[in-house]
Amino acid sequence: MLDILLKNAEQIAMDAGKWIVQNRGNYEKVQYKKNHLDVVTDIDRESEARIIRHIQQVFPEHAILSEENQSIDKDFSVISQAEYCWIVDPIDGTVNFVHDEPYYSVSIGIVKNGEPIAGVIYDPNRDELFSAGRGIGAYLNGKKVQVSSRSLRESLLHTGYAASDWTTDSPLRYEFAKFFAKSRNIKIAGSASLDLAYVACGRADGFWQRGLSPWDIAAGILLVTEAGGTITGTDGSVLDLQKGDVLATNGNIHKQLIHIMTGVDEHERTIC
Ligand code: IPD
Ligand code: CA
Ligand code: CA
Repeated sequence: MLDILLKNAEQIAMDAGKWIVQNRGNYEKVQYKKNHLDVVTDIDRESEARIIRHIQQVFPEHAILSEENQSIDKDFSVISQAEYCWIVDPIDGTVNFVHDEPYYSVSIGIVKNGEPIAGVIYDPNRDELFSAGRGIGAYLNGKKVQVSSRSLRESLLHTGYAASDWTTDSPLRYEFAKFFAKSRNIKIAGSASLDLAYVACGRADGFWQRGLSPWDIAAGILLVTEAGGTITGTDGSVLDLQKGDVLATNGNIHKQLIHIMTGVDEHERTIC
């Protein structure tokens, strides 16, 4: 069954990704969801409709949780209640897509009774297909991948946050300053799923962000663990797919980052 699920997820993600790239720039206007930071286009919606049609044709009894579609399950409880649930982000990195920056993906995770069993992330601009199945490893275009072994001082970290997260009392200011000082660099690259895929294949060494949605991370979680990495909440707790606070690393640097994130003291925080 895992094999059939993975093959279908891969085909669906590649079909959608190729269609997205063919149609880039080909939408009426950028629509705001909550505000100018949270955007969607007709291409996100049409890509999603294509993905959902395909899943429903092949697996009519499976549940689907998908970012833009209001008529499909919007209640996160479906993740743990359905036997199989497909968790779909039809374009992860819409801001990049809108600005024609080639760092976005189609992300499809499949959970069985709440546990991730398959994950596919397709980058149509580089024609890179990241996929993982529980217990069978993580792959990039069919070749097995693993996380890096870099130390913190050699590391390239990814993160993501909105301007509205940068408040005076946010822990982000402190940890960003500390991580920046201790690593090679930090990127706000704009696609959480690809950030996780990059950790899995050893390009990036760590990724952290709070408040992500299940469709941003469902596929990437499995990629990171199957590639030998470590993934937890930002406080070191067991990852909660629905809460979406994520720290994913190559394993080597995990403790150090957790230590920095949880060891915040008021004095140090005020000087950042
Ligand atoms: C966004 C991207 C981004 C992350 C945001 C997400 P979207 O997803 O993953 O990297 O920082 O929190 O909402 O809106 O492009 O699907
Ligand atoms: Ca997303
Ligand atoms: Ca999206």
